[in-house]
Amino acid sequence: MPLHLLDHPLAAHLVTHLRDRTTKPATFRTLTHQLSLLLAIEATAELATEPRAIETPLEPVTGTVLRHQSLVIIPILRAGLGMVAPFTELFPEVSVGYLGLERDHATAEARSYYCKLPPLAGRPVFLVDPMLATGGSAVQALDVVQAHGGKGVRLISIVSAPEGVAAVEHAHPGTRIHTAALDRGLNERKYIVPGLGDFGDRLYGT
Ligand code: PRP
Ligand code: URA
Repeated sequence: MPLHLLDHPLAAHLVTHLRDRTTKPATFRTLTHQLSLLLAIEATAELATEPRAIETPLEPVTGTVLRHQSLVIIPILRAGLGMVAPFTELFPEVSVGYLGLERDHATAEARSYYCKLPPLAGRPVFLVDPMLATGGSAVQALDVVQAHGGKGVRLISIVSAPEGVAAVEHAHPGTRIHTAALDRGLNERKYIVPGLGDFGDRLYGT
């Protein structure tokens, strides 16, 4: 299964503080930023590079630079917005698309309310959403991205449930998922357990 679990003691430390119910929104946002930075580095490990001849103050050397590729990051609103800044900091040329999806509290089914995407064909696309629960939002988002020409999309989440991973694998086989935690499952309200609660509410203090 193409699931990549971020295996780093700092990631485990940050996720634990994120889960803690006493963590307040300001700290929650900082932890989200830090984890997203680690995930962004991991998820872009296979970007193409090329040699570049330069001169240090001491001698010539052939170094390595990123080959020019116009990346796209697509946060799923609203919680995915908290994961965007590390990408724009690391890759200033990145294009940012937006997909608005909201789960119905009673049915846990996602409803689409906004979509603004740049051209996707031939570009590395990173779909970011901190919670992969039933997978309904991620699958809908992947459907839209695919319909707009996006291929080989990488999905980046902070906490995932096995049910969500399976749903993505079923609907979009081979999709690479990068996550910082794979939890036990979902409760009767389709929240991830042990999870961290409602990510958007904790991120934005709502
Ligand atoms: C949360 C989360 C995901 C979705 C995951 O968003 O950010 O988008 O739920 O659940 P799923 O895998 O079962 O679809 P929510 O719908 O609560 O909206 P928000 O980001 O605006 O709070
Ligand atoms: N969305 C969240 O924010 N948290 C969950 O546990 C599931 C979906």
